[in-house]
Amino acid sequence: MASPSLPGGTWTLGDLTVTRFGYGAMQLAGPGVMGPPADRDGALAVLRTAADLGITHLDTSAAYGPRVTNELIREALHPYPDGLHVVTKVGATRDERGGWPPARDPRSLRSAVHDNLETLGLDVLDVVNLRLGDATGPRPEPVAEAFGTLVDLQREGLVRHLGLSNATPEQVAEARSIAPIVCVQNLYNLAHRHDDALVDALAADGVAYVPFFPLGGFSPLQSSALEAVATRLEATPMSVALAWLLRRSPNILLIPGTSSVAHLRGNVAGAGLPLSASDLAELDTVGIMGT
Ligand SMILES: NC(=O)c1ccc[n+]([C@@H]2O[C@H](COP(=O)([O-])OP(=O)(O)OC[C@H]3O[C@@H](n4cnc5c(N)ncnc54)[C@H](OP(=O)(O)O)[C@@H]3O)[C@@H](O)[C@H]2O)c1
Repeated sequence: MASPSLPGGTWTLGDLTVTRFGYGAMQLAGPGVMGPPADRDGALAVLRTAADLGITHLDTSAAYGPRVTNELIREALHPYPDGLHVVTKVGATRDERGGWPPARDPRSLRSAVHDNLETLGLDVLDVVNLRLGDATGPRPEPVAEAFGTLVDLQREGLVRHLGLSNATPEQVAEARSIAPIVCVQNLYNLAHRHDDALVDALAADGVAYVPFFPLGGFSPLQSSALEAVATRLEATPMSVALAWLLRRSPNILLIPGTSSVAHLRGNVAGAGLPLSASDLAELDTVGIMGT
C-alpha cells in the first residue's frame, strides 16, 4: 500500500498511485551497470527495505546488468505486494564493452518488453518508458515509429502506461500527439536544471517528471551553496538535494539509487527536511552559478 507517511506523499501515474519517494535500482548491478553486484544479499536487503518502508515506485530496466536488477527485484519481492509498481524502460541495449547502443526498431522494442515481463515475473508492465538519445543525453531523433510500437504493445495489453526518457521537449510533444504519457524521466537535479520549463509544463498537465541522477549519479553533486545549506541545517547534501526536488514541483517523483540500507533510510528521512524560503533562494543559485 502507498504510504502517505513517506516524504512528499503520493502521485498518480494514470490509474496507479505511487509514493513520490521511489527507488532507482540501476546501481544495484555490478560496476558500470554490468554483471551481478558484489554484495548480492545486501542488494536484496535494500529492495526489501524499500518495500518495508512503504515505497511503491521502483525504477529499473532489463538493460541494467543486463537483466540483473530485474532479477534481483523479482527475487526480493515477487509476488509483489499490493500497490507496488515497477517502472521499466526500453530503447537501449548493452554491448560487450558496457555501452548502451540504441535498440528502437520495432523488433528490439517488442523483445525488450518481453524480456522485462519475463525477468520481473509479470504479465503486464505498469509503466514503460521509451528511452531515447544516448549516454551523453537527448538527441534530436523522430519518435513516432518507436513510440508507435509501444502504443501497439499497450493495445495488446502488455503495457499499462507509457512514458519517455532522455527526451527533448519536442520529442515529448511529438509522443503526446500520438498517445498519452504518464511520465518523463530525464537528467535533472539541483545543478542540472535545463528541464525547468518542461517540469512546469508537465505539472500543468498532470504528467510526472522523474529526475534521474537526483544525487548526481556517478559523480555526487558538489556545490558550495549546497554544502552551506546542508551545514546550516545540520543535514547531508543528499538530504537537501532530495528535499529540494520534492519542493520544486508536485509532479516530481524521486528515484534515488543506493546499494546501502543505511543510505536508503537516511535518504527517506532526509527528503522530509523542511527548507525555508531563504534556503530555497540560496539553493536556486546552484544551477545558475554552478557553485
Ligand atoms: N533513464 C535513464 O537514462 C537513466 C539514467 C540513469 C539512471 N536512471 C535511473 O535513475 C536512478 C537514479 O540514478 P542513480 O542511482 O544512477 O544516481 P543517484 O540516485 O543520483 O545517485 C546514486 C549514487 O548516490 C550514492 N548515494 C545514495 N544515497 C547516498 C547517501 N545517503 N550517502 C552517500 N551516498 C549516497 C549511491 O551510492 P551508495 O550505493 O553507496 O549509496 C550511488 O552511488 C537509477 O537507479 C535508475 O533507475 C535512469
